[in-house]
Amino acid sequence: MITLEEYLDGTGAEQELKELVRLIAAQATPIREAFLTNQTYAGTTNQSGEEQAAMDTWADRHITEVLQRSGLVREVASEEQNDILKIPESHGEYAVVMDPLDGSSLIQVNLAVGTIVGIYDHGTVMQPGEKMRAALYMLYGPMTVLTLTVGEGVQIFALDNNNQYVLLEADVKMPEGNLYGSGGLRTVWTEEHARFIDTCEQEGYKLRYSGSFVADFHQILKYGGIYCYPAVVGKERGKLRLMFEANPIGFIATQAGGAICDGRMNVLTINPEKPHQKTPLYVGSKGLIEKVNGTLCT
Ligand code: AHG
Ligand code: MN
Ligand code: MN
Ligand code: MN
Repeated sequence: MITLEEYLDGTGAEQELKELVRLIAAQATPIREAFLTNQTYAGTTNQSGEEQAAMDTWADRHITEVLQRSGLVREVASEEQNDILKIPESHGEYAVVMDPLDGSSLIQVNLAVGTIVGIYDHGTVMQPGEKMRAALYMLYGPMTVLTLTVGEGVQIFALDNNNQYVLLEADVKMPEGNLYGSGGLRTVWTEEHARFIDTCEQEGYKLRYSGSFVADFHQILKYGGIYCYPAVVGKERGKLRLMFEANPIGFIATQAGGAICDGRMNVLTINPEKPHQKTPLYVGSKGLIEKVNGTLCT
C-alpha cells in the first residue's frame, strides 16, 4: 500500500509543506494516547464561550509546541487560543489554523472525534478559505484516519499496525448520496432551514448526526448528502467557526467535488475579520448545496 510519504513525493507539494503535513498528521498518535487521562473538563472557557475539555487544551498545547519547534510556521490561530500566535523566529512561511479537538463533548462517551487543520502560505492566517495551500483532518474512530488535500484532490489514509499512514482511498469524489445532519434545536430553526430539512426528508434523506463535525462530515464525504449547522433564531451566525472548522472542511469538500455555503454564498470566499468569527454552514454534495442556495435565498 502507498504510504503518506510516497503519496506526497508524487505531488507538486514543496518539501517544507510535505514536512509540515507529515509532522501534523503524526500527532494523531500522542493525541489518541492522551484521551484516557484527559476525560474531564479544564475548568476554563475559550473565546467562543465554550467550556474547554481537558483534551481541547491538551491537544492545543501539544500541536502548538510541535508547530513552534518546527520552524516552518509563522502564525498559528486556534479555536482554543484567544489571540493569533506569532512565531517571528520561524524560517518558514506557513500559517496554520486549527480546531485541535473537534467534538470534545463526545470523548467521555467514546464517539469518534477529530483534529481539523488548515495550512496557508504567505505567512498569515487571515485569508479566505479558497486561498488554503492544504487542509487535513485526523479522525479518531475504529481506525485513525487522515483525510488530506494539498490542492490535488482528496486522499484518505489510515494508520497501520506499524503506525504508518497508508493510502485507503485516492482521489475521493463526494457522491450525491442521501444523508443529512443538522445542528441547532428544531424549535429555533428559521423557517427557510426547517423547509429545507422537510424537503430533504420528503425526498428520502436519512438523518445522520453525532455531534462531532469531523465524524459527521467524513460520512458525507464518503456517502454523500449534507451537513448543516444553520443560523438559528438568536444565533444568526450559527455555532461553527469560519477559520477553524468551515474553511478547512470546506476546502476539502470542494477538492472532492462538493461545496460549502452559508445559506447565501460560498463560505470559502469570505474574508475573515476576526479569528473566532462564526458562520452558518451547509457543506456536502454540490446538487444539494445548490438547492440550499436556491431555497434559502428566496
Ligand atoms: P468543538 O468540540 O470543536 O467545539 O466542536 C463541536 C461542534 C461540532 O463538532 C459539532 O458538529 C457541533 O459542535 C455539535 O453542536 P451541538 O452539540 O449543538 O449539536
Ligand atoms: Mn469547542
Ligand atoms: Mn469543532
Ligand atoms: Mn474544538
